[in-house]
Amino acid sequence: MRIGVLTAGGDCPGLNAVIRSVVHRALVGHGDEVIGFEDGFKGLLDGRHRKLDLDAVSGILARGGTILGSSRLERARLREACESSKELARDLGIDVLIPIGGEGTLTASKMLSDAGLPVVGVPKTIDNDISSTDRTFGFDTAVGVATEAIDRLKTTAESHQRVMVVEVMGRHAGWIALESGMAGGAHGICLPERPFDPADLVKMVEERFARGKKFAVICIAEGAHPAEGSMDYAKGAIDQFGHERFAGIGTKLATELERRLGKEARPVILGHVQRGGTPTAYDRVLATRFGWHAVEAAHRGDFGKMTALKGTDIQMVPLADAVTELKRVPEDRMDEAESVF
Ligand code: F6P
Repeated sequence: MRIGVLTAGGDCPGLNAVIRSVVHRALVGHGDEVIGFEDGFKGLLDGRHRKLDLDAVSGILARGGTILGSSRLERARLREACESSKELARDLGIDVLIPIGGEGTLTASKMLSDAGLPVVGVPKTIDNDISSTDRTFGFDTAVGVATEAIDRLKTTAESHQRVMVVEVMGRHAGWIALESGMAGGAHGICLPERPFDPADLVKMVEERFARGKKFAVICIAEGAHPAEGSMDYAKGAIDQFGHERFAGIGTKLATELERRLGKEARPVILGHVQRGGTPTAYDRVLATRFGWHAVEAAHRGDFGKMTALKGTDIQMVPLADAVTELKRVPEDRMDEAESVF
């Protein structure tokens, strides 16, 4: 079997672990050939690809990023790109394509599959917002980075009696903010799923100071929005990939709190630090399992599906189910987090 593999969309710790696992299972387990496309679907469209042997994936398990490179496809070009990708993959004799990517990549994968190309998807995103899988690899790493940041910010906040506003990634879903906020013991967590009122945060900080606690840390997802009319705020513009370019809610909130509280507040934007570097052991294991199961699915002819974690098992789920809606933080998870502020 000739397997094509590519990584598309924003990178994520664990991508290399999937590539390595696909190559090992395909070559050693089945005697397949694996072709890696460079820079996501762009490499497929431009004919930039290379054969991946065991040497090519040696030593990459713990390496962040992706040895294949990645890119995003513009929404407007998606259908046309899928049509060309299908033809080009066929010309190269690809029996099955394994795209590793987030919502946009899985949507393109579904289009390719609907157009008749055998596809087995592997979901990835640090945001953990893909439906039909309990977890995506990369998330655990990102939560670890953000938790460490909160721990560190607490000591400097306390020394200076400041309010720290830590902005983490998560444009549509607040999983990173929720879990790093809980793990780091943040005193306020703001998520895209529940508009926040700065007045509540002011109250929380004042109550803490009244109790003798002279600092506070608020963890906010980049996609969080204030409740209508609660503070001045304008949404960011939508870019060519269909994503909102965020207007820096962490910085805006810190400025607002400083003004209302008359205390020093500082924003800290963690940004792409959360996506870089080595994956945690959990992410390496999940990514490796996804790669193994993707190859097995390819050999069973289980196409048009993606690998998914269900409890502790890896199952194959239809791509159609994965791309219909994002997995957002449910109310009860937000309530649990709030109970320990
Ligand atoms: O979807 C993953 C993600 O890291 C989001 O959390 C974030 O909003 C976005 O990608 C950033 O994208 P870019 O790397 O294009 O700035």
